[in-house]
Amino acid sequence: MHFYRYYGKIYKRQLYCFAFSETEIIMDHSKSTVAERSSFTGKIGFVLAAAGSAVGLGNIWRFPYLAAKYGGGIFLLVYIILSVTFGFTLMVAEIAIGRKTGQSPIGAFRSLDKRFSFIGVLGSIVPMLILPYYSVIGGWVIKYSVGFICGEMSNMAGGDYFGNYIGEAWEPVIWFLVFICVTALIVLFGVQKGIEKVSKIVMPVLVVLMIFVITYTFITTEGVWDGIVYYLKPDFSKFSYMTVVSAMGQLFYSMSLAMGIMITFGSYMKKGISIEKSVHQIEIFDTGIAFLAGLMIVPACVAYDPTQISKGPGLMFGVLPRIFDNMPGGAFVGAAFFIMVLLAALTSSISLMETVVSTVHDKWKLDRKLSLLIVLGASIILGLLSCFGYSIWSDVKLFGKLQFLDFFDFITNSVMMPIVALLTCIFITFIIKTKTIDDEVALSGKFKMKRLFNVMIPYIAPICLLVILVFAILEGVGVITV
Ligand code: PHE
Repeated sequence: MHFYRYYGKIYKRQLYCFAFSETEIIMDHSKSTVAERSSFTGKIGFVLAAAGSAVGLGNIWRFPYLAAKYGGGIFLLVYIILSVTFGFTLMVAEIAIGRKTGQSPIGAFRSLDKRFSFIGVLGSIVPMLILPYYSVIGGWVIKYSVGFICGEMSNMAGGDYFGNYIGEAWEPVIWFLVFICVTALIVLFGVQKGIEKVSKIVMPVLVVLMIFVITYTFITTEGVWDGIVYYLKPDFSKFSYMTVVSAMGQLFYSMSLAMGIMITFGSYMKKGISIEKSVHQIEIFDTGIAFLAGLMIVPACVAYDPTQISKGPGLMFGVLPRIFDNMPGGAFVGAAFFIMVLLAALTSSISLMETVVSTVHDKWKLDRKLSLLIVLGASIILGLLSCFGYSIWSDVKLFGKLQFLDFFDFITNSVMMPIVALLTCIFITFIIKTKTIDDEVALSGKFKMKRLFNVMIPYIAPICLLVILVFAILEGVGVITV
């Protein structure tokens, strides 16, 4: 990626990722005399930018339905354990690789060892496959935001509104196109910085709204206690290999790992900023929001209708309108909530599209606008598959059971990301050695979790990743079932 590092020229440069703009400007400040202050601001800038990309539909839409489906408390426990071990070490490794090389994924692996640039290529394909279906879900969120604003709440709360909606041939396509075109326009006009500012407001408002909704539901909903217990208390009899497979896939997805994104973020990080502390903060932020979203949706689902627990992608859209419908002023709160979710989804989709466009631009040396058009065109085609998979092509089942959207979700989260993560571990262990990462992290202070890192990357992570991968593939092709 041609992210320009000439500090004074940053405003003249169109091609930069929105998420890094603040970090870049902070770098600019770092030339000033107030070095102390600027490096502090720099750290916050980095964390906010990375969190803006990380927090999105993964936390609010995907996490709750997986937690509900794969055992509640046990899923939560496995997820948290994986997050502080796998999530932490992989994120440290990716950011350190990015910072050390100062390059985007393909260039980063190439500059460390030419033979391994394919890991970067593989990682870069993941966002290309995620962006289209991410935008389809973004479209669903627009539909619900508009529904709340137009007084449709009671309709949305009753029957199988969601199922009927996604079964329609054209409306989901229209909202999908709106979502992806808005993303493309923001990327085209480079107004990402404005969006980043928006995201700084969105995150706190989202947290406050979620806490409000959770409190309200807990106080007013009959039978919610069973749901709270289901979500928070690990029930070991519900543990299955799919708990681990899905928690691991979710971890990659939610923290934007194993797809090169954190390498790119790392390439923008100043040497003085602590990688370790930043990772802890991003992790707490990301997991915290996912946890709250689960607390908002899962207990309410158990209280309303426990049979919906394994509903999958439609869970949030089925449960939330019912919560808001039972609340005085629910139409307003619901509209505000869905708009916040929409904005959080947009900051993530922009970072996804920006990454894909930059990869195309770099790889084929194409004009940036042309790269954007190609990415948009390809994403629309793939996104249409996901839309129609629920409507006119609902009979088409890949691997005998997966709809297109589920297929893209499965192939990226459960297959490609574990492969990229596994290759990254092997690359670090055998080619550049863990010491290279240790040294990079230590540039900004003592690496406190070094021992954990040096056990995870060469031993535990690769073995677990391999096992998870095998199980995921066997389950995907239907050899085993949960
Ligand atoms: N992590 C984002 C989410 O949770 C999704 C995403 C993946 C965004 C990759 C950017 C890049 O919604």
